[in-house]
Amino acid sequence: MKTGTSMKKYVDRLSQRFHGSRDVHVVLDYFLNHFGHKVGFASSMGAEDQVLTDFIAKINPQTKVFTLDTGRLPEETYELIDQTRSRYSELNLQIYFPRHENIEKMVAEKGLNLFYESIENRKLCCYYRKVEPLQRALSGLDGWITGLRREQSVTRWQTRLVEFDEDNGILKINPLIYWTEDDVWKYIRQNRVPYNKLHNANYSSIGCAPCTRAVPKGGSVRDGRWWWENSGHKECGLHRSNREVFFEEA
Ligand code: ADX
Ligand code: SF4
Repeated sequence: MKTGTSMKKYVDRLSQRFHGSRDVHVVLDYFLNHFGHKVGFASSMGAEDQVLTDFIAKINPQTKVFTLDTGRLPEETYELIDQTRSRYSELNLQIYFPRHENIEKMVAEKGLNLFYESIENRKLCCYYRKVEPLQRALSGLDGWITGLRREQSVTRWQTRLVEFDEDNGILKINPLIYWTEDDVWKYIRQNRVPYNKLHNANYSSIGCAPCTRAVPKGGSVRDGRWWWENSGHKECGLHRSNREVFFEEA
């Protein structure tokens, strides 16, 4: 990996090259070929991620695709993991779990449903169940791919297609950053991509079961996530440039 100024220049160059691109095939083809086994795709099994999985399965199914199983995912997401495995049998899908000792300590001190009590508790839970496993999933990689879209939230509207992820010290590639929700669903329908059944019940963005609900009428895509908090806090820590620093990492 490049470092310092040369890394900044490299990221700027790539960022300019793909600025405004909505051509996911071209973007993924470039990064999957250039980075090979040094790039991985983080899939939450959300609608955007299923689109990317479909592209990746067609371009290079050996690419590392990983899901962080927090232990609190909805049953429908587990069903979709199995469906995705059968639909894309060549896919190199890896599941990461939290470290049990972290969860046992947290639950002993604060209870199972600590997240409803305070933002600090919620972010602590997200840290142990998502951020720490993410760090393990990314170790050894030079870049990771996500399904972020600008439209999803005010915290994401400045996100670029190619960025340097300072937290993890690697490149971050967001091929759907300029896609709309309609683009996503059009692709899913046209390509018969498997998706989470919860989307049929007005769920939009889907995370852990206790922290996700259907979007209320007239609400926006992330209104069903951590609905008891105000919108400025709605990042869990996977995407640090999109969040406020919440506590000195545990
Ligand atoms: S979150 O940070 O609020 O949970 P969101 O659900 O919008 O994120 O997903 C944004 C992107 O983060 C996804 O497209 C995916 O790349 C990554 N991501 C989120 N949750 C997971 C997960 N459980 N496993 C793997 N990647 C995830
Ligand atoms: Fe914990 Fe909720 Fe974060 Fe899942 S989304 S890790 S249950 S606080």
